[in-house]
Amino acid sequence: MNHPVQLRALVVFETMFGNTATVARSVTEGLVEGGMDVTVLGVRDAAGVDPSDFDLLVVGGPTHAFSLSRPGTRQDAVRQGAPAASAEGIGLREWIATLTPGHDHLLATFDTRVTKVRHLPKAASGRAARLITRRGFRLVSRPTGFVVTDIQGDLVDGETERATAWGRLLAVETHHRLTPVPVS
Ligand SMILES: Cc1cc2nc3c(=O)[nH]c(=O)nc-3n(C[C@H](O)[C@H](O)[C@H](O)COP(=O)(O)O)c2cc1C
Repeated sequence: MNHPVQLRALVVFETMFGNTATVARSVTEGLVEGGMDVTVLGVRDAAGVDPSDFDLLVVGGPTHAFSLSRPGTRQDAVRQGAPAASAEGIGLREWIATLTPGHDHLLATFDTRVTKVRHLPKAASGRAARLITRRGFRLVSRPTGFVVTDIQGDLVDGETERATAWGRLLAVETHHRLTPVPVS
């Protein structure tokens, strides 16, 4: 598919056991299939990266205690088998706190969770959306959850495909919002 303007997306993810990283890669595939130029970064590599250099910011992390992780929940994850290194440095909550307010950019958020209820009212993606929209970003899609079978994973069958499809949808919506419709 040819796109006259190549829009840019930044995907920033946090992961303890690796499942959210897998979803982030699948979402990235969908964004690329949708014609976007994508930079994907683990949250600890995203320090100093300015999301206002991108047309769309996509943020994803694991749901911990119905919300974004905190240092204490990351230590809990390590006690439950996550690599110790995955708890080092900052998580999404701390990265979001470094974003300067005043942006008028597009945003999508996702999480992973064990809960089978897809529209869990309290989960990491909803919390991230609330914190980032307060800084002026506008959501292009509802915060979305992808389900793992257990605290350590794996992802439920079909979730990576759903993540890729969601990425394609985000690309379409971003083009729709940012590309002027030609007048014939
Ligand atoms: C400390 C802790 C708290 C958790 N709390 C929740 C929760 O409130 N709701 C939920 O659905 N899953 C919860 N989980 C499961 C995580 O969402 C799951 O470990 C995560 O999706 C795996 O992603 P990752 O492999 O990227 O770390 C929790 C896991 C840990 C370690």
